[in-house]
Amino acid sequence: MSLGTNKSMAKYKTALVTGGAGFIGSHIVDALIRRRIKVYVIDDLSTGSRKNLNPNATFYKMSVADREAVTKLISRIKPDVVFHLAAQIDVRCSVEDPPGDASVNVLGTLNVAHASAKVGVKKFVFTSSGGAMYSDTLRPPYSEKTPEEPLSPYAIAKRSAEMYLDFEHRIHGMKYVVLRLANAYGPRQALRGGYAGVISVFARQMLAGDKIVINGNGKQTRDYVFVGDIVRAHMLAMDKAVTGTFNIGTGVQTTVNSLFSKIKQLTGSKQKEVYGPACKGEVMRSALDSRKAARELGWKPEVSLEEGLKKTVLWFKNI
Ligand SMILES: NC(=O)c1ccc[n+]([C@@H]2O[C@H](COP(=O)([O-])OP(=O)(O)OC[C@H]3O[C@@H](n4cnc5c(N)ncnc54)[C@H](O)[C@@H]3O)[C@@H](O)[C@H]2O)c1
Repeated sequence: MSLGTNKSMAKYKTALVTGGAGFIGSHIVDALIRRRIKVYVIDDLSTGSRKNLNPNATFYKMSVADREAVTKLISRIKPDVVFHLAAQIDVRCSVEDPPGDASVNVLGTLNVAHASAKVGVKKFVFTSSGGAMYSDTLRPPYSEKTPEEPLSPYAIAKRSAEMYLDFEHRIHGMKYVVLRLANAYGPRQALRGGYAGVISVFARQMLAGDKIVINGNGKQTRDYVFVGDIVRAHMLAMDKAVTGTFNIGTGVQTTVNSLFSKIKQLTGSKQKEVYGPACKGEVMRSALDSRKAARELGWKPEVSLEEGLKKTVLWFKNI
């Protein structure tokens, strides 16, 4: 499977990827190694797995919340570029334990960002969330000009982290790119609840013949973007001489009901839709406008939902 670009880069020799044993982070590690960049990974393996980890990466099992360890490591390795993906990613957990979420998503990010600014990294790429950043009282697709309305502690933490990056840029001159992702999907995505992982959950359950419950009426929409396209956005964020925030999505809204029937067809499942109670506080629609990324990063999604779903289902068949 080819994810990301293969162009070799002279500018960056070393990279640090936090969350590099996770779903998106591990694909970024693979793309960097294909470009012959030396990669260091920090991950506490709370949701990530050693199985995802490229054997050519140098791995440190460490929490980004451990300020002393993170600062020591970054001052030692002095990476040229940092990709910060390590995060507590469950919105419901953030609602149950806001301080726990903030200790990783705000303070953990600041630990990595501040240490990176101090050693003068050339570029800091932060993986934020476009799905959580905007309110659905407005009509999607949302652009970077849409007023942010972070409601959950997860979204508040992502927004705060973005603002700290801007601080590190203004005061210490650290160049950064924030990528606000729509809903990612693809091989290696863990089977979590909520709609971030709905494609992997449906694929796995249909292949196993398990009963599937759709939360609510299934008319909720999300913007699903394939992990290979996300990796390419991260590579462009590293390569291009830009600083700022970019929404990364397809602009297309897909309902859960539509996903259900597409994955049913691909897996040959005979499952019938079963509807359960709706998730409290869930937004009903979401999609991102990525025209700024097209203009300034040269990024456009290349993998159609049909093609991406095929690749994802095939991966689940083979694990
Ligand atoms: N998946 C999506 O749809 C989506 C959408 C928007 C933004 N994002 C962001 O992308 C990033 C990666 O998410 P993902 O979907 O690959 O999830 P993931 O859970 O697979 O990846 C997160 C990784 O971070 C690690 N981690 C968690 N807490 C840590 C800590 N305290 N110290 C060190 N490592 C820690 C986990 O073990 C895991 O490997 C996250 O920042 C997430 O907020 C994801």
